[in-house]
Amino acid sequence: MAIYSDEEIRAFGLDRDALPKHIAIIMDGNGRWAKKRRLSRSAGHRAGVDRLRGIIRMSSDLEIASLTLYAFSTENWKRPSDEVSTLMALLIEYFTKEIDELFSNNVRIRIIGAYQDFASPVRSVIERAMKRTENNTGLNLNIALNYGSRAEILRAANLAMRQAVAEGKSEITAEMLEGNFYTAGQPEVDLVIRTSGEHRISNFLLYQISYAELLFPEEFWPDFSDEAYLSALRVYQSRSRRFGGLEGNA
Ligand code: FPP
Repeated sequence: MAIYSDEEIRAFGLDRDALPKHIAIIMDGNGRWAKKRRLSRSAGHRAGVDRLRGIIRMSSDLEIASLTLYAFSTENWKRPSDEVSTLMALLIEYFTKEIDELFSNNVRIRIIGAYQDFASPVRSVIERAMKRTENNTGLNLNIALNYGSRAEILRAANLAMRQAVAEGKSEITAEMLEGNFYTAGQPEVDLVIRTSGEHRISNFLLYQISYAELLFPEEFWPDFSDEAYLSALRVYQSRSRRFGGLEGNA
Protein backbone atom coordinates (compact mmCIF):
# COMPACT_ATOMS: atom_id res chain seq x y z
CA MET A 1 0.00 0.00 0.00
CA ALA A 2 1.33 3.46 -0.85
CA ILE A 3 -0.45 6.10 1.16
CA TYR A 4 0.57 9.50 -0.22
CA SER A 5 2.67 11.67 2.08
CA ASP A 6 1.54 15.20 2.96
CA GLU A 7 4.20 16.49 0.59
CA GLU A 8 2.92 14.43 -2.32
CA ILE A 9 -0.61 15.57 -1.63
CA ARG A 10 0.54 19.20 -1.58
CA ALA A 11 2.35 18.59 -4.87
CA PHE A 12 -1.04 17.58 -6.33
CA GLY A 13 -2.33 21.00 -5.22
CA LEU A 14 -4.49 19.40 -2.52
CA ASP A 15 -4.97 19.83 1.20
CA ARG A 16 -5.13 16.46 2.96
CA ASP A 17 -7.41 17.80 5.71
CA ALA A 18 -10.05 19.01 3.27
CA LEU A 19 -10.35 15.92 1.08
CA PRO A 20 -13.86 14.52 0.65
CA LYS A 21 -14.55 11.57 2.93
CA HIS A 22 -17.04 9.99 0.58
CA ILE A 23 -16.96 10.31 -3.21
CA ALA A 24 -19.71 8.95 -5.47
CA ILE A 25 -19.14 8.51 -9.19
CA ILE A 26 -21.59 8.03 -12.06
CA MET A 27 -19.35 6.45 -14.68
CA ASP A 28 -21.08 7.76 -17.78
CA GLY A 29 -20.01 7.87 -21.43
CA ASN A 30 -18.68 4.38 -22.17
CA GLY A 31 -20.99 4.06 -25.19
CA ARG A 32 -20.06 7.45 -26.64
CA TRP A 33 -16.37 6.80 -26.03
CA ALA A 34 -16.70 3.61 -28.09
CA LYS A 35 -18.79 5.23 -30.82
CA LYS A 36 -16.21 7.96 -31.31
CA ARG A 37 -13.66 5.21 -32.02
CA ARG A 38 -16.05 3.08 -34.11
CA LEU A 39 -15.85 0.35 -31.47
CA SER A 40 -18.65 -1.72 -29.98
CA ARG A 41 -20.45 -0.60 -26.81
CA SER A 42 -18.95 -3.69 -25.16
CA ALA A 43 -15.49 -2.34 -25.93
CA GLY A 44 -16.57 0.91 -24.29
CA HIS A 45 -17.65 -0.88 -21.12
CA ARG A 46 -14.42 -2.85 -21.08
CA ALA A 47 -12.46 0.40 -21.33
CA GLY A 48 -14.64 1.71 -18.50
CA VAL A 49 -13.71 -1.23 -16.30
CA ASP A 50 -10.02 -0.67 -17.12
CA ARG A 51 -10.31 2.83 -15.68
CA LEU A 52 -11.54 1.52 -12.34
CA ARG A 53 -8.14 0.31 -11.23
CA GLY A 54 -6.49 3.76 -11.30
CA ILE A 55 -9.40 5.58 -9.66
CA ILE A 56 -9.74 3.01 -6.88
CA ARG A 57 -5.98 2.96 -6.31
CA MET A 58 -5.80 6.72 -6.12
CA SER A 59 -8.80 6.93 -3.75
CA SER A 60 -7.18 4.34 -1.53
CA ASP A 61 -3.79 6.08 -1.56
CA LEU A 62 -5.44 9.41 -0.71
CA GLU A 63 -7.13 7.67 2.26
CA ILE A 64 -10.65 8.52 1.09
CA ALA A 65 -13.01 6.67 3.46
CA SER A 66 -15.67 5.64 0.91
CA LEU A 67 -15.94 5.50 -2.85
CA THR A 68 -19.31 4.59 -4.33
CA LEU A 69 -19.49 3.62 -8.01
CA TYR A 70 -22.72 3.38 -10.00
CA ALA A 71 -22.13 0.23 -12.04
CA PHE A 72 -25.67 -1.00 -12.82
CA SER A 73 -28.93 0.77 -12.07
CA THR A 74 -32.38 -0.72 -11.65
CA GLU A 75 -33.16 0.92 -15.02
CA ASN A 76 -30.20 -0.68 -16.82
CA TRP A 77 -32.22 -3.92 -17.29
CA LYS A 78 -33.98 -2.02 -20.10
CA ARG A 79 -30.81 -2.14 -22.22
CA PRO A 80 -30.53 -4.74 -25.00
CA SER A 81 -29.97 -8.18 -23.51
CA ASP A 82 -26.54 -8.59 -25.13
CA GLU A 83 -25.37 -5.39 -23.44
CA VAL A 84 -26.71 -6.57 -20.08
CA SER A 85 -24.89 -9.89 -20.62
CA THR A 86 -21.65 -8.04 -21.43
CA LEU A 87 -21.92 -6.03 -18.23
CA MET A 88 -22.52 -9.20 -16.20
CA ALA A 89 -19.55 -10.93 -17.83
CA LEU A 90 -17.37 -7.89 -17.09
CA LEU A 91 -18.45 -7.93 -13.47
CA ILE A 92 -17.46 -11.57 -13.10
CA GLU A 93 -14.15 -10.94 -14.85
CA TYR A 94 -13.46 -7.85 -12.78
CA PHE A 95 -14.03 -9.46 -9.40
CA THR A 96 -12.10 -12.56 -10.40
CA LYS A 97 -9.06 -10.68 -11.69
CA GLU A 98 -8.89 -7.78 -9.28
CA ILE A 99 -9.78 -9.33 -5.96
CA ASP A 100 -6.19 -10.12 -4.91
CA GLU A 101 -5.00 -6.58 -5.55
CA LEU A 102 -8.05 -5.06 -3.86
CA PHE A 103 -7.52 -7.33 -0.89
CA SER A 104 -3.84 -6.49 -0.59
CA ASN A 105 -4.64 -2.77 -0.79
CA ASN A 106 -6.89 -3.22 2.28
CA VAL A 107 -10.02 -2.31 0.27
CA ARG A 108 -13.35 -3.46 1.69
CA ILE A 109 -15.90 -4.30 -0.99
CA ARG A 110 -19.58 -3.79 -0.36
CA ILE A 111 -22.34 -4.14 -2.88
CA ILE A 112 -25.20 -1.68 -2.59
CA GLY A 113 -28.45 -2.60 -4.32
CA ALA A 114 -30.61 -5.66 -4.86
CA TYR A 115 -27.78 -7.81 -6.21
CA GLN A 116 -29.70 -10.94 -5.12
CA ASP A 117 -31.67 -10.55 -8.39
CA PHE A 118 -28.56 -11.35 -10.45
CA ALA A 119 -27.88 -14.82 -11.83
CA SER A 120 -25.93 -17.07 -9.50
CA PRO A 121 -22.47 -16.82 -11.15
CA VAL A 122 -22.51 -13.04 -10.63
CA ARG A 123 -23.97 -13.36 -7.15
CA SER A 124 -21.42 -15.87 -6.00
CA VAL A 125 -18.42 -13.91 -7.28
CA ILE A 126 -19.57 -10.72 -5.56
CA GLU A 127 -20.47 -12.52 -2.34
CA ARG A 128 -17.00 -14.06 -2.30
CA ALA A 129 -15.42 -10.64 -2.83
CA MET A 130 -17.44 -9.12 0.03
CA LYS A 131 -16.63 -12.01 2.35
CA ARG A 132 -12.93 -12.01 1.49
CA THR A 133 -12.54 -8.29 2.21
CA GLU A 134 -14.95 -7.91 5.13
CA ASN A 135 -12.21 -7.37 7.71
CA ASN A 136 -10.26 -4.88 5.61
CA THR A 137 -10.01 -1.42 7.13
CA GLY A 138 -9.00 0.81 4.21
CA LEU A 139 -11.18 2.25 1.45
CA ASN A 140 -14.85 1.23 1.54
CA LEU A 141 -15.56 0.46 -2.08
CA ASN A 142 -19.32 0.45 -2.57
CA ILE A 143 -20.36 -0.87 -5.94
CA ALA A 144 -23.96 -0.05 -6.80
CA LEU A 145 -25.53 -3.00 -8.61
CA ASN A 146 -29.21 -3.18 -9.42
CA TYR A 147 -29.33 0.00 -7.39
CA GLY A 148 -31.94 2.75 -7.39
CA SER A 149 -32.17 5.40 -4.71
CA ARG A 150 -35.97 5.52 -4.51
CA ALA A 151 -36.06 1.77 -3.97
CA GLU A 152 -33.35 2.10 -1.32
CA ILE A 153 -35.30 4.81 0.55
CA LEU A 154 -38.50 2.76 0.42
CA ARG A 155 -36.71 -0.35 1.63
CA ALA A 156 -35.08 1.58 4.49
CA ALA A 157 -38.42 3.18 5.45
CA ASN A 158 -40.09 -0.23 5.59
CA LEU A 159 -37.28 -1.73 7.66
CA ALA A 160 -37.34 1.26 10.02
CA MET A 161 -41.13 1.04 10.28
CA ARG A 162 -40.93 -2.62 11.28
CA GLN A 163 -38.31 -1.73 13.86
CA ALA A 164 -40.55 1.06 15.21
CA VAL A 165 -43.56 -1.26 15.45
CA ALA A 166 -41.46 -3.89 17.26
CA GLU A 167 -40.36 -1.23 19.73
CA GLY A 168 -43.89 0.09 20.18
CA LYS A 169 -43.07 3.47 18.62
CA SER A 170 -45.41 5.39 16.31
CA GLU A 171 -42.76 7.25 14.29
CA ILE A 172 -39.43 6.52 12.72
CA THR A 173 -36.46 8.86 13.20
CA ALA A 174 -33.83 10.03 10.73
CA GLU A 175 -31.31 7.79 12.51
CA MET A 176 -33.56 4.76 12.03
CA LEU A 177 -34.00 5.57 8.34
CA GLU A 178 -30.30 6.23 7.73
CA GLY A 179 -29.36 3.15 9.72
CA ASN A 180 -31.20 1.05 7.17
CA PHE A 181 -29.56 2.49 4.06
CA TYR A 182 -27.00 0.32 2.29
CA THR A 183 -24.46 3.01 3.17
CA ALA A 184 -25.27 2.97 6.92
CA GLY A 185 -22.31 3.87 9.09
CA GLN A 186 -20.36 5.51 6.26
CA PRO A 187 -19.80 9.26 5.95
CA GLU A 188 -22.34 11.32 3.99
CA VAL A 189 -21.38 11.85 0.37
CA ASP A 190 -19.25 15.00 -0.01
CA LEU A 191 -18.66 14.91 -3.75
CA VAL A 192 -20.56 13.49 -6.72
CA ILE A 193 -18.79 13.22 -10.05
CA ARG A 194 -20.73 12.39 -13.22
CA THR A 195 -18.53 12.10 -16.27
CA SER A 196 -19.44 12.77 -19.91
CA GLY A 197 -20.92 16.22 -19.39
CA GLU A 198 -24.42 14.97 -18.47
CA HIS A 199 -26.00 17.00 -15.68
CA ARG A 200 -28.28 14.47 -13.99
CA ILE A 201 -28.30 12.42 -10.81
CA SER A 202 -30.32 9.50 -12.23
CA ASN A 203 -31.71 8.07 -8.99
CA PHE A 204 -28.29 7.80 -7.33
CA LEU A 205 -27.99 8.22 -3.53
CA LEU A 206 -30.65 10.95 -3.45
CA TYR A 207 -30.74 11.18 0.35
CA GLN A 208 -27.01 10.73 0.96
CA ILE A 209 -26.00 13.54 -1.44
CA SER A 210 -28.15 16.21 0.23
CA TYR A 211 -25.16 18.52 0.85
CA ALA A 212 -22.71 17.09 -1.68
CA GLU A 213 -20.81 19.17 -4.20
CA LEU A 214 -21.72 18.13 -7.74
CA LEU A 215 -19.17 18.01 -10.55
CA PHE A 216 -19.87 17.21 -14.19
CA PRO A 217 -16.55 16.85 -16.03
CA GLU A 218 -16.74 16.60 -19.83
CA GLU A 219 -14.55 13.49 -20.26
CA PHE A 220 -16.20 10.19 -21.09
CA TRP A 221 -15.61 7.72 -18.26
CA PRO A 222 -12.83 5.71 -20.01
CA ASP A 223 -10.97 9.03 -20.54
CA PHE A 224 -11.35 10.16 -16.92
CA SER A 225 -7.66 9.95 -16.04
CA ASP A 226 -5.96 10.08 -12.66
CA GLU A 227 -5.08 13.71 -13.51
CA ALA A 228 -8.75 14.49 -14.28
CA TYR A 229 -9.66 12.96 -10.91
CA LEU A 230 -7.10 15.10 -9.10
CA SER A 231 -8.37 18.12 -10.93
CA ALA A 232 -11.94 17.33 -9.78
CA LEU A 233 -10.64 17.11 -6.20
CA ARG A 234 -8.98 20.53 -6.60
CA VAL A 235 -12.26 22.01 -7.83
CA TYR A 236 -14.02 20.42 -4.85
CA GLN A 237 -11.51 22.02 -2.49
CA SER A 238 -11.96 25.40 -4.14
CA ARG A 239 -15.68 25.38 -3.39
CA SER A 240 -16.96 26.75 -0.14
CA ARG A 241 -19.36 24.41 1.63
CA ARG A 242 -21.75 26.12 3.99
CA PHE A 243 -24.32 23.39 4.73
CA GLY A 244 -27.04 26.03 4.78
CA GLY A 245 -25.09 28.28 7.19
CA LEU A 246 -22.95 31.32 6.46
CA GLU A 247 -19.35 31.55 5.21
CA GLY A 248 -16.93 30.50 7.97
CA ASN A 249 -19.69 28.79 9.94
CA ALA A 250 -19.60 25.46 8.17
C1 FPP B 1 -22.73 4.39 -18.58
O1 FPP B 1 -22.22 4.52 -19.86
C2 FPP B 1 -22.16 3.24 -17.96
C3 FPP B 1 -22.84 2.17 -17.52
C4 FPP B 1 -24.29 1.98 -17.58
C5 FPP B 1 -22.12 1.05 -16.94
C6 FPP B 1 -20.96 1.45 -16.10
C7 FPP B 1 -20.29 0.23 -15.81
C8 FPP B 1 -18.97 0.03 -15.86
C9 FPP B 1 -17.92 1.03 -16.13
C10 FPP B 1 -18.54 -1.32 -15.58
C11 FPP B 1 -18.73 -1.59 -14.15
C12 FPP B 1 -18.12 -2.80 -13.83
C13 FPP B 1 -17.60 -3.09 -12.65
C14 FPP B 1 -16.77 -4.26 -12.58
C15 FPP B 1 -17.81 -2.33 -11.39
P1 FPP B 1 -23.21 4.45 -21.08
O2 FPP B 1 -23.11 3.12 -21.69
O3 FPP B 1 -24.58 4.84 -20.65
O4 FPP B 1 -22.58 5.53 -22.00
P2 FPP B 1 -23.34 6.39 -23.11
O5 FPP B 1 -24.27 7.31 -22.36
O6 FPP B 1 -22.21 7.12 -23.75
O7 FPP B 1 -24.03 5.42 -24.01
